[in-house]
Amino acid sequence: MEFKDPASYTDLSQGKIKHIGFRISVDFSTRTLQIEATYQMKEPIQGSLFLDSFKLELLKAHVNGRELAWEFDARDDILGDRLHLKGFEDDSTFTLTFRTSPEARALQWLNASQTAGGNYPFLFSQCQAIHARSIFPCQDTPSVRFTYSAEVEVPQGLVAAMAAEQVGVEEGTGQTLFRFRMPQPIPSYLFALVVGNLDFRELGPRTGVYAEPQIIDAAAWEFAENETKIIEAEKLLGPYLWGRYDLLILPPSFPYGGMENPRLTFLTPTAILGTRGQTSLITHELAHAWTGNLVTNATWQDFWLNEGWTTYAEQRITEVLEGKEVADLRSAFAEKQLIEIMQQIGMDSPYTCLKLPAERDADSFTTIIPYFKGAFFLQECEYAVGRERFDAFIQAYMASFQFQSLTTEAFLDFLKSELPEVFEKVNVHKWIYEPGLPAADAWHRPQSHLYDEVQQALDNYEQGIKPTQEQVQGWHRVQIFSFLQGLPHKIPVEDCSYFEQILELDKRNDAGHYSFFYATCVASGYQAALPRIEQFLGTVGRMLYILPIVRAMIETEWSRDFMRPLFERVRDRHHQITIHAMERLLRNAGL
Ligand code: BES
Ligand code: ZN
Repeated sequence: MEFKDPASYTDLSQGKIKHIGFRISVDFSTRTLQIEATYQMKEPIQGSLFLDSFKLELLKAHVNGRELAWEFDARDDILGDRLHLKGFEDDSTFTLTFRTSPEARALQWLNASQTAGGNYPFLFSQCQAIHARSIFPCQDTPSVRFTYSAEVEVPQGLVAAMAAEQVGVEEGTGQTLFRFRMPQPIPSYLFALVVGNLDFRELGPRTGVYAEPQIIDAAAWEFAENETKIIEAEKLLGPYLWGRYDLLILPPSFPYGGMENPRLTFLTPTAILGTRGQTSLITHELAHAWTGNLVTNATWQDFWLNEGWTTYAEQRITEVLEGKEVADLRSAFAEKQLIEIMQQIGMDSPYTCLKLPAERDADSFTTIIPYFKGAFFLQECEYAVGRERFDAFIQAYMASFQFQSLTTEAFLDFLKSELPEVFEKVNVHKWIYEPGLPAADAWHRPQSHLYDEVQQALDNYEQGIKPTQEQVQGWHRVQIFSFLQGLPHKIPVEDCSYFEQILELDKRNDAGHYSFFYATCVASGYQAALPRIEQFLGTVGRMLYILPIVRAMIETEWSRDFMRPLFERVRDRHHQITIHAMERLLRNAGL
């Protein structure tokens, strides 16, 4: 493997971590984890080992009964601190004792008042892309995989859960000890831990949900169909190799829609709509159990191998579970969003290529481009050889690379050996290494009559004819998205209220709809909506929903100066990743 992950200090020639045994003690009063970790390497190592770390306080390093020399010998805002362990003499195991910082990027410590119940504190981790290093020293690159076991000690009354198998619980005095093991090798970004007042509800033989007691009923109802999903996903992708598939509903500040932590998907509470309407989000995270967790991108430059493949699989499973009409509607909407974001960042920007530029800050280029452009590329490959052959290819790909990480180049080699005709019919190089999208007549652009219906309403609106309530009554959730996304940047203020009313946005109470709606309100000068916008930005944590509103506020004359003070008022409600992203937008705008 001749590559270097630009987002990590790892030097693969020194050796690779194979297993870590953790003993973790959770201290809410100091907002720290005290950890002892015993590392096993794949092979004995000589001399030095570089590990990634971020603001960790190292207390002790020892190997075979002797002290190990160490220093933090490189430091970077993004990469963190390079832990240089020295003096290995053919050792394959060593132990580190350390404490995390209250500012650990992967950890969010919540006061009781920031939870649904209001009585217990809460802790959750989010390691993707490069934050595992703020919990434990590691080779924080997806090209290294390891198994682990963990003992987690938490204050009595609280429950610990991990993206791993629970193998025991012991009540102590004032403390409870939870034991876990992760027998399948994972990359560091899939390490995950949560501690809180959590209830669990069984959904099916392999599926269940964790949530605070106040929302467990709603969650159990919303996701009752998960077992069926796994069965469908297995038909496309092969056997589910992780044992259980549970969900964890997080407090509102969770910055993502979902995070595919193995065995335990982390989910935004905005996914609970009361309608089972956000099924594609679960389909997406579930599909990652194969595309991402089983077969993993080797670096974050190859992110499309995770997200493009997952979006493609999501699309295929949606076709079976929700029908082709809905799947086509989603595709057509995806293309519109893709073009919009490409235009925003520049059609010739290298960030519109599937293979992304080498970057230290792996989170800074997370856009939907690798998702949708990647899925469209794979769909072109499918068209080139037909569904039957492509489906056989998918199964072969999963089976050949399971529990491995691969680069885009390794994937292309595999594609070439299995399906050489793809290269005759599809301009693979252009899709992967060139910016923008192929010409409109050079690929199978999505066709959807449900989308066309929305487009007709948008065209009519531009001619001065507004849709009636009757016309939009039976619209699918994604048609409403498409309509809101397709509206002109700026519309008359009274039309904002009109659309809110006929689309019954308040009744549906879907944060996704409000995200598009409020961005339009801001651009349109609907100043009376400001208090509601502030309320939204203070209660929704999902970045995909709030950043577009922040961007609109910054770009619009009347709202520009409101944004910094508003941000300061809601700052405490948000995750550090979100704060970091908002800060970057504000700073770039000189605010
Ligand atoms: N793995 C991602 C979340 C992620 C990406 C975390 C990059 C950190 C860095 C997850 O699977 C995802 O894509 N979530 C999306 C939802 C999806 C349906 C588009 C999200 O959070 O919005
Ligand atoms: Zn994803």
